[in-house]
Amino acid sequence: MPPGSVIGILGGGQLGRMIALAAAPLGYRCAVLTPEEDSPASQVAWHTIVAPYDDAAALERFADLSDVVTLEFENVPAQAVAALAARVPTAPDERVLAVTQDRLKEKTLAREAGLATVAFAAVERGDLSAMRETVGFPAILKTRRMGYDGKGQRRVDTLEAAERACRDLGDSLIAEAVCPFELELSVIAARSPGGEIRAFDAVENAHENHILRTTYAPARIAEAVRAEAQEAARRLAGRLALVGLLAVEFFWSPEAGLLVNEMAPRPHNSGHWTIEACRTSQFEQLVRAVCGLPLGDPARRHDATMTNLLGAEADDWAEPVADPDTHLHLYGKAEVREGRKMGHVTRLLPLGSHIADGNG
Ligand SMILES: Nc1ncnc2c1ncn2[C@@H]1O[C@H](COP(=O)(O)OP(=O)(O)O)[C@@H](O)[C@H]1O
Ligand SMILES: [Mg+2]
Repeated sequence: MPPGSVIGILGGGQLGRMIALAAAPLGYRCAVLTPEEDSPASQVAWHTIVAPYDDAAALERFADLSDVVTLEFENVPAQAVAALAARVPTAPDERVLAVTQDRLKEKTLAREAGLATVAFAAVERGDLSAMRETVGFPAILKTRRMGYDGKGQRRVDTLEAAERACRDLGDSLIAEAVCPFELELSVIAARSPGGEIRAFDAVENAHENHILRTTYAPARIAEAVRAEAQEAARRLAGRLALVGLLAVEFFWSPEAGLLVNEMAPRPHNSGHWTIEACRTSQFEQLVRAVCGLPLGDPARRHDATMTNLLGAEADDWAEPVADPDTHLHLYGKAEVREGRKMGHVTRLLPLGSHIADGNG
């Protein structure tokens, strides 16, 4: 796709904002479709259509403006993506979304790819029989679709609690064994239309209240584990044959090794450190992939620690902006809510710092 072409972005959040900021130096324009007025992405995009994702006329206009459509939010209705795909190439495509919108399909794909996961079972309309057989208690019940930041999931220790959770969470659930992980890792892999696949370093993620708090790049774990996680992410990206990015989250413990938890076909919060610390950022890599440019070099040039600024924490921007080793990103969100991702800071460290400090 030549410079001057238009990348359509479904979704107006901070991921869309950072995609648009990475597209501009390569000469592309971005059009955003989002239900939200004055969204983080629209503040830096060339054009925005404010409409719900199921507005047929808006989808048509958006498709006609765009030379390719990508997304920063994967839980868009399948019909919306189908309507777009009839008029414009979408990357990733409907086939990929059908898997990555559904936790049960994701885990099934991981198993088919020869990768380990926690024990899991489908729970349809409150039928707990498969769960009692293959998962047992304690377990985590999750909605198969639409969950994020720990929403739509509950830990259950007894059958009665599981029955209650089924009533609260809905008809289509997955039950998972609780993984006593020591570390959560993630890897972002990019795949080009020609099938080239390149992965960023494996990072370590610390969550608070199910929301990502801090990412350590690289993960403070043995090199062999990091390499195994990269290989797993590359394998899943290849199996899905997606164009764009695939972010894969893992659990790791010495007993169970590496287990695939979930995946997302888009830039990921745990990849924000790549903006300053890698030769190519996750956002530029996505732009390269969807526009059919050669993929960039994901090599890490620094170690990094990325910390999300949640809610009112973003009010303390004066300190990081004055620190020469720290890069401040604010997303332009007017409304402050508790736990809302308002921005992040990335602190650069010399190569090798995390391994020297850490438990690896
Ligand atoms: N099977 C599990 N065992 C232990 N912890 C889990 C399990 N599933 C989820 N968690 C914890 O909850 C967090 C959020 O769950 P996740 O499946 O990643 O959903 P999402 O990020 O979409 O909300 C995980 O990062 C992990 O800390
Ligand atoms: Mg997750």
